[in-house]
Amino acid sequence: MSRLAEVCDYRIGAERGALDREALLAGMSEADGLICLLTDTIDREVIAAGARLRVIANVAVGYNNIDAAAAQQRGIYVTNTPDVLTDATADLTWALILTVTRRIVEADAFTRAGRFTGWDFDLLLGSGLTGKTLGIVGYGRIGRAVARRATGFGAQVVYCGRDDIAFRDDPQHNAMMATRQSPTSPLSQSARLEGLAARRVSFDQLLALSDIVTLHTPLAAATQHLIDRNAFARMKPTAFLINTARGPVVDEAALIEALRQKRIAGAGLDVYEREPEVSAELLTMSNVVLLPHLGSSTVETRTAMAMLAVENAIDALSGRVPRCVIR
Ligand code: DGY
Repeated sequence: MSRLAEVCDYRIGAERGALDREALLAGMSEADGLICLLTDTIDREVIAAGARLRVIANVAVGYNNIDAAAAQQRGIYVTNTPDVLTDATADLTWALILTVTRRIVEADAFTRAGRFTGWDFDLLLGSGLTGKTLGIVGYGRIGRAVARRATGFGAQVVYCGRDDIAFRDDPQHNAMMATRQSPTSPLSQSARLEGLAARRVSFDQLLALSDIVTLHTPLAAATQHLIDRNAFARMKPTAFLINTARGPVVDEAALIEALRQKRIAGAGLDVYEREPEVSAELLTMSNVVLLPHLGSSTVETRTAMAMLAVENAIDALSGRVPRCVIR
């Protein structure tokens, strides 16, 4: 706040949680800039209420809460906070992978309940990671950071990028991807540069090959319900789904059905389709680990995100193109 005060007057909308919509609309008429959270819906109406608005600075890397097209039509910058949250989100992804595959939450509850009465050869057996295949859907900054950590666990990585997701139903694209799949086919340039044995595959191949499918794609029309009933049908019955991206990328009803029918082995979720609501049935499942959207939640990362959003806003208010502008 002190950094902001050096350049402008500011008003705090809500000390905690999402801003009340009426208050948000009322406050927009006088605002030159808006710093908002992923829980604030900045739609066309809110943007139209900001006659003087020059910048909408989201304190998140995802910006699906903002109608970016409406803002751009009015010449308003939309900014986000990439990079600073990459490692924290990748770490939390691995925390979920380890927790769900090694049944940590169940084991903790078991021990606290006084049920640990002696070492037992097959007590709470989990799934190992060495030699397993990690499928990364969305190979941007966070997806690649998750891939880098896989090396330490001895897991192999396959991934899909933006095109493989967008053209997942295009037979030509999938045929082209299939030609690259021999074990001797070259690794992608980015994988080679990062010293990773990560192989790009089609979306269908990723679902079929992976022991763990982890989602790192933004929420957009092409990714809404990307993981639906069809996707679960293609996954291994021993596979786990991890979601630290956005809830609506997964069809939550289809996920519950897949878990109930044992079409997959378990799930680790940080985000939900109707966040903050969590489907009641998920709460009853012991093979599901549930977190309250903590991907970037470390003191260091949240501080860096807030500072970056402030600098983005200051850039715009000072007549400069913000450093993290969405185009
Ligand atoms: C983001 O930045 O999009 C994250 O979800 C915040 O935790």
